[in-house]
Amino acid sequence: MDVETGAEAAAFANVTALPVNPAQNFKASTYERAADDWYVEPRWCVEQLADAIDLADSLIWDPACGGGTIPDTFEARDFRAVGSDIRDQGYAGGKVIADFLSLDPALVVTPSGRFSIVTNPPFRMAERFARHALALPALRVCMLQQLSFLASRARWALFREWPPSDVLILSQRPSMPPGEKIAEMGERAFRGGTTDFCWIVWTRPHDRPTNLRWLAPEARS
Ligand SMILES: C[S@@+](CC[C@H](N)C(=O)[O-])C[C@H]1O[C@@H](n2cnc3c(N)ncnc32)[C@H](O)[C@@H]1O
Repeated sequence: MDVETGAEAAAFANVTALPVNPAQNFKASTYERAADDWYVEPRWCVEQLADAIDLADSLIWDPACGGGTIPDTFEARDFRAVGSDIRDQGYAGGKVIADFLSLDPALVVTPSGRFSIVTNPPFRMAERFARHALALPALRVCMLQQLSFLASRARWALFREWPPSDVLILSQRPSMPPGEKIAEMGERAFRGGTTDFCWIVWTRPHDRPTNLRWLAPEARS
């Protein structure tokens, strides 16, 4: 276990030749799929969640923290935040290196304390992540997910069993570059998103009708 504290994510440098639309480079036809699905959401996605959902008085835990966009964003808003990930992707803050699906949560949070899980999970494991998170005593579980995740025969049982309290549709498509590409591409990596995303939020007790909202587009793309 590797536990550290503090620090914003490093700024990106050494920009080399950049494509007109970096997002096109993220298609599987061009690149191998990122190892462990390490695709990084732009910070504004997390800011929009933090603006829309009251997570006050909750320790924020991202169990797939990667480079730490989510815990960094919440720490900047004076939340306590921790991250864990199956591998060290460079998050400098308080972190644990572990598979979320087999991790003892007591290594990261005090299960009897107030905590919420906020995560952009590995896409191919999203439902397993959701079910695992929902089985923990988190006050809220907030998951950034492709909009198409909502409409599926396979997920009908998940949403019937665990109705979300909120679905927040991102009116602007975020670009999610592979983590390994960001240093090379800099902020341009976060331009030109091609896929629709939403935040799916579950709130205890799980007995309320789902509130559907649209988050405004960002001023910049
Ligand atoms: C979509 S990325 C999240 C990116 C992150 N928000 C960031 O700022 O870099 C998914 C992350 O899940 C991690 N991951 C994949 N399988 C995992 C598992 N079983 N348990 C924990 N983390 C896992 C990957 O290493 C990757 O960092």
